[in-house]
Amino acid sequence: MAVTGKIVILIVFVVGIIFQSPQMILRPGLLRALINNFTEGAFNIPLRISKHGHSHKSFLRGDPTSVMDNIPPEASKVKYLNQDEAIQVDVDLLKDYKFGVDTQLMELAGLSVATAVAKVYESKKAEHVLVVAGPGNNGGDGFVVARHLKMFGFENVTLLVARKPTKEGFLNLIYQAEHNQVMVSYDASSYRDHSATLIVDALFGFSFKPPVRPDYQPLMDILVSSSAKLVPVVAVDIPSGWDVENGPPTDDSIRYMPDMLVSLTAPKLCANHFQGSYHFLGGRFVPKTLADKYALNLPPYPGTECVVRLK
Ligand SMILES: *[C@@H]1O[C@H](CO)[C@@H](O)[C@H](O)[C@H]1NC(C)=O
Ligand SMILES: *[C@@H]1O[C@H](CO)[C@@H](O)[C@H](O)[C@H]1NC(C)=O
Repeated sequence: MAVTGKIVILIVFVVGIIFQSPQMILRPGLLRALINNFTEGAFNIPLRISKHGHSHKSFLRGDPTSVMDNIPPEASKVKYLNQDEAIQVDVDLLKDYKFGVDTQLMELAGLSVATAVAKVYESKKAEHVLVVAGPGNNGGDGFVVARHLKMFGFENVTLLVARKPTKEGFLNLIYQAEHNQVMVSYDASSYRDHSATLIVDALFGFSFKPPVRPDYQPLMDILVSSSAKLVPVVAVDIPSGWDVENGPPTDDSIRYMPDMLVSLTAPKLCANHFQGSYHFLGGRFVPKTLADKYALNLPPYPGTECVVRLK
């Protein structure tokens, strides 16, 4: 009886305070903040501690405008594409949605990769970044990444190009990188023992079929050896050497695990084998009708961001 009495008095007391000074207790936003804190604490997934000793908050906070701190629940529903689908979606974007204009799609893809890199590796802005760019569209994305990293304040960016392109659009992207103080090199052999502390892998994309041609093996070596030395490698769309659907190859000379993967348009099936620290989806340019056509189930991009974190 005594305990019940005390509880009743306590409730009356608390309700009294709330009604007497609602502006004190129920300040706008306070209740919401309390509820947010509760739901975040209850449902969010703990972050893994990064290999590089970055100190992370132990829980992701639900600030919907922060890419780093927010993995939307819909991220688990996004469709992973097989090779035919990846090729077909790209064809649709280029033809049906007129993204064919030269390098427009690469510009948006490269911008989103650079955005994600700048968020995760902000602490490396004064260090040497090496972008390894292949002969195809994935390499084209790399040309753009290098330039935007410079824009984002990375001081020392080198673009290592596998083969001098012939298409004007590609040449223009390299020209733009050079005219934004990106170092451009065509000589992979001089980067075998590089001192870069961050590598961007824009060597091969979803059209890659093994084996790696001998002239590209030196570039592949840079990725494999860097990763083995625990220098973080950021893979653009597909980690080079991986099968688009089945993931890492069995051949040691071309197998590596990136620290970060930035999937473009939609993740490809190989992303199921990704075991690095950060998985982002980039390229906020997919029209809704196209996303519906392939049932992509794209998660919402936070705020005005061009990337969303998947893992
Ligand atoms: C919510 O959590 C943050 C971070 O832990 C804390 O600073 C803030 O005071 C909390 N807000 C409320 C209303 O409890
Ligand atoms: C960039 O880094 C490399 C490797 O550490 C170094 O050799 C080069 O001088 C640096 N360039 C600039 C412009 O700082």
